[in-house]
Amino acid sequence: MARIFVIDTPTRPIETPVLFPVNNTGHRGEGNGPEYWTEIPDMKTMLLNAHLLYKSSILQTLMAEGLHRHYTQDGVFFIDSGGFQNRTSDLTIDPIEILRIQESIGADIAATLDIPVLPQENTLTQKHAETLRTCVKNALITLQHREREDMLIYACIQGGDIRAMLNMVDYLQKRGQFDGFAIGGLVPKRSDFQQIVDTIWAVRKRIGDAPLHVFGLGGPSYIPLLVYLGVDTFDSSSYLRAGSKRVYFVPGQGSVDFQDIGKCTWLPCVCPVCSAHPCNEVREDRRLIALHNLWMIAYEIRKLKIAIRENSLEPYLEQRLKPNPLIYGAYHYAKGKIRGFT
Ligand code: GUN
Ligand code: ZN
Repeated sequence: MARIFVIDTPTRPIETPVLFPVNNTGHRGEGNGPEYWTEIPDMKTMLLNAHLLYKSSILQTLMAEGLHRHYTQDGVFFIDSGGFQNRTSDLTIDPIEILRIQESIGADIAATLDIPVLPQENTLTQKHAETLRTCVKNALITLQHREREDMLIYACIQGGDIRAMLNMVDYLQKRGQFDGFAIGGLVPKRSDFQQIVDTIWAVRKRIGDAPLHVFGLGGPSYIPLLVYLGVDTFDSSSYLRAGSKRVYFVPGQGSVDFQDIGKCTWLPCVCPVCSAHPCNEVREDRRLIALHNLWMIAYEIRKLKIAIRENSLEPYLEQRLKPNPLIYGAYHYAKGKIRGFT
């Protein structure tokens, strides 16, 4: 199922698997993360959230300049709707307003406005049915009102169980020509590996060759599993969150707290950050930690792509995931499903 796939975006083709790092533009629109897109050649991609931009003063700048002039001309920008905020804040904006923001700032890929289904939600309730109806309606409205034909539109998929999600996929595929699908609602379920594997696998099979994005699970431990399941693109703010908590991604392994690293002159990494800055400088600067963390993800994705090309993904994952029993178990569970699929 793992694949290398080319997605033709308005800016340029991208070769999957691809991470869209979440660029936290902050409340006043001034980012507090590193300008990774100027540092890491493999990471000229970014995920921003239309609803957060709408509430931020940076929106005017982006409307005037466009994302590409503001950040980088050859950047590929995935603009999420902000559906994730739908349950936590006062989202009053409608799907067409979100679409207009996505189109006018120059998004390459836009996700439709969804309402996340929470893990504890009962799928037999009226409220669940209502939520899914709104997701479907919003997705179709977005497609009907598109003004930029070149911008890719991904339908957000939600559902309290797999049956509900697949129903949504079937309905949307029948009614509209979406450029891809994006699975939402998985972040709160992220420690239920079995459910995550079942869900992604079911949707991946159902959508044929269409591009598949998974929201919010693009951290260093989940990426190998997502790639194995045939997910094309993913996003994550893990590099930033880890940076602020002084958590350092260790090359080829998991992550460690800087407190546990102890005294050292140089870190055990030769990325441009750790080559130029001794241990104490990296430790003191959360932007440097975040940038190093993204370099590690870039390294991981390169290795995954090489393994796919060399037809050696399974042996690679076997040794790569072994130190992490939870992900290792999830990988074996996924392997069983994939092997049973003909
Ligand atoms: N980011 C993380 N989870 C979600 C989700 O469920 N929907 C959207 N649109 N974005 C997300
Ligand atoms: Zn490093």
